[in-house]
Amino acid sequence: MKVLIIGNGGREHALAWKISKSKKVDQIFMAKGNAGTDSFCKNIDIDPTDIKALVDFSKKEKIDLTIVGPEDPLCMGIVDEFEKNNLKIFGPNKECAKFEKSKKFTKNFLEKYEIPTAKYKSFDDFDKAKKSLKEFSYPLVIKADGLCLGKGVIICEDEKKALDTLDDIFVKKIFGDEGKTVVIEEFLKGEEASLLCLVSNNKLFPLETCKDHKQIYDGNKGPNTGGVGTYSPSKFSKKTEENIEKILKQIEDGFNDSKFSYNGILFIGFMIDKDLPKVLEFNVRFGDPETETLMPRLESDLVEIIEKTLDNTLKKEDIKWSDDFSLCVILVSEGYPLKYEKEKEIKGFDQVKDSLIFHNGTKIKNGKILTDGGRVLTINACAKDSETARKIAYKDCEKIEYENKYYRKDIGLN
Ligand code: AMP
Ligand code: GLY
Repeated sequence: MKVLIIGNGGREHALAWKISKSKKVDQIFMAKGNAGTDSFCKNIDIDPTDIKALVDFSKKEKIDLTIVGPEDPLCMGIVDEFEKNNLKIFGPNKECAKFEKSKKFTKNFLEKYEIPTAKYKSFDDFDKAKKSLKEFSYPLVIKADGLCLGKGVIICEDEKKALDTLDDIFVKKIFGDEGKTVVIEEFLKGEEASLLCLVSNNKLFPLETCKDHKQIYDGNKGPNTGGVGTYSPSKFSKKTEENIEKILKQIEDGFNDSKFSYNGILFIGFMIDKDLPKVLEFNVRFGDPETETLMPRLESDLVEIIEKTLDNTLKKEDIKWSDDFSLCVILVSEGYPLKYEKEKEIKGFDQVKDSLIFHNGTKIKNGKILTDGGRVLTINACAKDSETARKIAYKDCEKIEYENKYYRKDIGLN
């Protein structure tokens, strides 16, 4: 089989690494891939959002299966285009990708099917939004409706910050058209948890549990990032598990009632307080770095699972996991998620013997591997217990060298 993976981060590297172990697969193409995938895949120079070029390439190369990493092509309708051309692709169609493209769409769905979530109101009008602030207490959360490069969620401690934020979005238009609609919602306290589910024609198959660390500094301090450390499993209490199961059933029923045809991955972000999970968000793709943490624990053949998901023959028992504790530390460029420098040479790969390395933001220039993003490399260690996995991962984090390297030191301690 020939497989095409769309995207160029650590998530896509981890998917490619796992897929390279499948007996069914002869060749993996990456659009565009990175320095890490270059050694075992064929990186091709097509942008993940250039859907026409991707369709043409897949036809020409007779690609058997395409897997989409990032949300942008999904929201643009890449799945619909591939299917129109009789090309097999794993991901939700444009209609279902709205769950990531529009926060209002997701909140309306959650409300309609009485799925626990933060109380909210949505607005297209600056004055109405300002007036409604009185109905909320502080802190509150203001969300620009669209993708906004993952930066559209602002937590406001007081009225001044809330007014300034509404002004930024509606008047200064810092998110452009993606901020035309705004969701204002109550601030939820608790522990965050990510749950990724395979979705086969609206039926949800949860993957193993996983915990992401979003803030840049130890002790969950500092600005939010895309995720700088993860571990799996992240145990839920029995009560929480039961409540999550109920929510999954409500989502399935909602998908069916809405006559959606959801296939691919649904990533559910939860806030859990006293065993009561509430849905924070839906993403319509694999998480990054959740995928880097989960793939090393997955024992089943990922291609087989994806094919069964697509032809509606998947069973719970098909998805087998190791009992290992899997832990990822993300090496970033100092200054991320704000300002940081790129193009620093990375050394020490050959010194890392006990961890897997997935590349998040790297490139090759003049034969050298250089940093090419805020998140640079994921160091993944698997072991029988969390303490051992932590020791291995952190030992190997020290072996990688580049100017402006930074990473959290407390992943797996809480
Ligand atoms: P989202 O893109 O909706 O997941 O928001 C990004 C991050 O903002 C989440 O991972 C949470 O840490 C935080 N967040 C979003 N909504 C809320 C909320 N209602 N209450 C508390 N924190 C929130
Ligand atoms: N790690 C969070 C995300 O992929 O959105």
